[in-house]
Amino acid sequence: MAIRTLDTLGDLAGRTVLIRCDFNVPLQDGEITDEGRIVASLPTLRALLEQGARVVAISHLGRPKGAPEAKYSLAPVARRLEELLGSPVAFAADTVGEDAQRVRIALQDGQLALLENLRFDPRETSKDAAERAALAAELATGADAFVSDGFGVVHREQASVFELAQALPSAAGLLVERELDVLSRLTESPERPYAVVLGGSKVSDKLGVIEHLLPRVDRLLIGGGMLFTFLAAQGHGVAASLLEEEQLERVRGYIAQAEELGVELLLPTDVVVAESFAADAAHETVASDAIEQSRFGASGIGLDIGPDSAAAFADAIRGARTVFWNGPMGVFEMEAFAAGTKAVAQALTEVDGLAVVGGGDSAAAVRQLGFADDDFGHISTGGGASLEFLEGARLPGLEALGW
Ligand code: 3PG
Ligand code: MG
Repeated sequence: MAIRTLDTLGDLAGRTVLIRCDFNVPLQDGEITDEGRIVASLPTLRALLEQGARVVAISHLGRPKGAPEAKYSLAPVARRLEELLGSPVAFAADTVGEDAQRVRIALQDGQLALLENLRFDPRETSKDAAERAALAAELATGADAFVSDGFGVVHREQASVFELAQALPSAAGLLVERELDVLSRLTESPERPYAVVLGGSKVSDKLGVIEHLLPRVDRLLIGGGMLFTFLAAQGHGVAASLLEEEQLERVRGYIAQAEELGVELLLPTDVVVAESFAADAAHETVASDAIEQSRFGASGIGLDIGPDSAAAFADAIRGARTVFWNGPMGVFEMEAFAAGTKAVAQALTEVDGLAVVGGGDSAAAVRQLGFADDDFGHISTGGGASLEFLEGARLPGLEALGW
């Protein structure tokens, strides 16, 4: 079924519209280090404000434990929104308390308010549907419509994502609509060759997507910390590199399945091994079947794919017509171990076809490495959400919008 879009809400002039955004941005000492998600939310906010709606934005930030914590305040986001929109944004110091009431009552047509972090209220993420519904009802009070535009959270069955969409007339915002347009092109007859590049530290986070994608892709490229579980599954020693022993059997199954299906499974042939997990650690490149023979012996830690692998990955990516990438190839935050991630990002910018960067962390990585958003076909604002979308999982936040 098609998702309900903004136009299904009718004329919103003078109406109070709640909008769930995903303003879960990385912060360092109170400064936003990657504002991608805020920028991505502007088209919908502008569309609502220009119609003369009274817009009340809600979001989570980080994972506070159901009580206020200063470091998870959305106040820096409110200030950044003001700068980006060029108009004042009222900020409420609570979510459904007195301050939120005060801010909501004062709001005029065409004005925006942002409420404090939803996850300061334990009901937002409660396992108890009745508790979540109670918070949704409080949020909905006095509002005429709900717009769901936090694509990064549509995989969460949480009060502001799931119950709230049922408590008010609701529709997807422009950001969610665009994400679905692009990501659907990956699940419905992608142009071939179709390559998926997976990285990041944990295999266990990617099991669902590997399982679902294996029969659907032409090439699967594996980098990041999870590559060592693949190497170990092939019988290679990985010294002190990240290893998920309990996934070895499953990973062996994937390797066999890829062979049966004729899927090209690309594993690194060389890796950068370091003496320790540190930006200035001594390091050297070794063949991926000789990690234990590095000069660091059993204490060597693989922190990036090597240059031969990076070149092979780049070729495999450039030669594809559809590419999805989630997860860095190495510890890109450290210059010495950023080359693999950089090479993959660069290759994605050169794809003749659709190249999608999936995920909060991968998106932050490409920006940190100096790439621009429009170098890529699409940068998804959802990490877990885009992976679960590709897995074909049930997404409560979309289901509630008629998807
Ligand atoms: C994200 O950053 O992936 C989204 O904002 C969801 O956050 P969560 O994983 O804490 O639910
Ligand atoms: Mg996440």
